[in-house]
Amino acid sequence: GIGDAVAGDPATRLCGIAGNPCAHSKSPGLYKRLFERFGMNYRYTRFEWHDIGTIVRLARLLDVRGMSVTIPFKVDIVPYLDEVSEDAAAIGAVNTVVQCGGVMQGFNTDWLGIRIPLRHRAGGRAVVLGAGGAAAAAVYALQSLDMEVTVLNRTPEKARTLASRYGCAAGGLDAFEGRDVDVVVNTTPVGMEGDARSLLTVEQLEMGMTVYDCVYTPPETPLLREAVRAGCETIAGTEMFVHQAVEQFRLITGIAVEPALVREMME
Ligand code: ATR
Repeated sequence: GIGDAVAGDPATRLCGIAGNPCAHSKSPGLYKRLFERFGMNYRYTRFEWHDIGTIVRLARLLDVRGMSVTIPFKVDIVPYLDEVSEDAAAIGAVNTVVQCGGVMQGFNTDWLGIRIPLRHRAGGRAVVLGAGGAAAAAVYALQSLDMEVTVLNRTPEKARTLASRYGCAAGGLDAFEGRDVDVVVNTTPVGMEGDARSLLTVEQLEMGMTVYDCVYTPPETPLLREAVRAGCETIAGTEMFVHQAVEQFRLITGIAVEPALVREMME
């Protein structure tokens, strides 16, 4: 915990993850390996507590350099910060905090984790499955690539609410029309470990589509298996973690690491 984290030398820069729970997070292991690789006098710990206000206060007292923010605090942390980046404000969620000269700034790198692997599909048509927090980041990412976006969700009303915020189309899951779609992004938990379901079948998918499943446990999901059978390009959810981590590490430390290095460190 905190005692261990502050027991560095006076020059040690402290970082960590704010979440509840955050025991399962891959971030602490990754940061530790990156700090070691670059010989950096940084330490990364877990700020696991039920109240984000207390975590932020503690991070100010300890002069924490940077924090990853995870469930359930990505939205709730916003009012406790001094500044929020334009993209984080537009998405309504922060997954990265940087403290500089006592000023706490919030950023969002989750949307870049969706945007970067889809850059080659800029200008096309995209369907986002789901209408929660991850879907908001996905819509923002796809619109930044000048894509025409449709949000489809189990509860169509929620899809319409999200879509109206971003000025895009919406519907229920049964409204999926594969013919004119270039990109599909699944942001629902369907297909996670122990769930054999896929929201779309091989018959609904077409060659030439790119299917990105944000689910990353397992890396090969039922949706991606359907997509391979249909001849689609597939992008696994691990890519989202890799690219959001690259951007987050750069914001916190100023160091640009290769996605390939992060990918290798995740294995
Ligand atoms: P996140 O922050 O990861 O996006 P969330 O805000 O809880 O998580 O959103 C989860 C999304 O997955 C929702 O759009 C949810 O659909 P509903 O709005 O109908 O609840 C969707 N979802 C969750 N379980 C699902 C399931 N079994 N089938 C289809 N959609 C599901």
